[in-house]
Amino acid sequence: MNHNIPPTILIFDSGVGGLSVFYEIQKVLPHANYIYVFDDMGYPYGELAPDILIERVNEMLRYVVDLHRVDIVVIGCNTASTIVLPSLREFLSVPVVGVVPAIKPASLISNTAVGLIATPATVKREYTHNLIRDYLLDVPIKLLGTTELVDMAENKLKGKPVCLVSLQRVLQPLIGKIDVAVLGCTHFPLLRNEIKHVFGNEIRIIDSGEAIARRVQSLINNSYIARAKNNNRKCIAYNSAPTIEGALNITFKKMGFEAIERIPTQDV
Ligand code: DGL
Repeated sequence: MNHNIPPTILIFDSGVGGLSVFYEIQKVLPHANYIYVFDDMGYPYGELAPDILIERVNEMLRYVVDLHRVDIVVIGCNTASTIVLPSLREFLSVPVVGVVPAIKPASLISNTAVGLIATPATVKREYTHNLIRDYLLDVPIKLLGTTELVDMAENKLKGKPVCLVSLQRVLQPLIGKIDVAVLGCTHFPLLRNEIKHVFGNEIRIIDSGEAIARRVQSLINNSYIARAKNNNRKCIAYNSAPTIEGALNITFKKMGFEAIERIPTQDV
């Protein structure tokens, strides 16, 4: 990493979920440059075959790192992080940070049971079950895999209202049965207020955003942070789909992204 120029942090997700990760990272590293990469054509990853997912993420990231100097890659997607990190670390020479569902912190504060809300793929993966075995200490866990909530978060960022009745129906298996809910998909913090509304105040809701931000911050040279000034911060986005909805373009603009470029990929 060259310590005289602002670091460039690449964040990847299937869709807009990684923006919840971007939001937390840029709070602690406001002067970094950001590249946001998402795969609208492959979305939703929670229902994509693992080998196709690995191939797509590798292909898209190869494309972007060939074009830009990147200092850190963040896979802002739990579903991808469960299977894609080893292959990325084979060809990327920079640190690759993945997202892990916050099962360990949840187990420390729960008295009754933890609910893990994630994609259908994440709740099935061996990676998740190993985490549960290693970190969930004294309380039981209830798993809820849902793509409907992922779609709701996507739609919210396209300006569409969130239907609380549908949200309540999806979350129903956990209502009254847990005291801590882990948002194990990066799309879900985008619905935090609505999820809180449905669960009520007595349930604690936790996600991994702040932990990832701290991890990324720890990888950026401290002397750089102390001197950091970047009045010319660059934020660009790349997407696999030829077009995206106008309302989503506006959301990206509001978050500081000047353009959304296209990455040519194969159809799923
Ligand atoms: N945001 C993603 C995650 O954290 C994936 C959502 C999806 O595409 O199914 O798992």
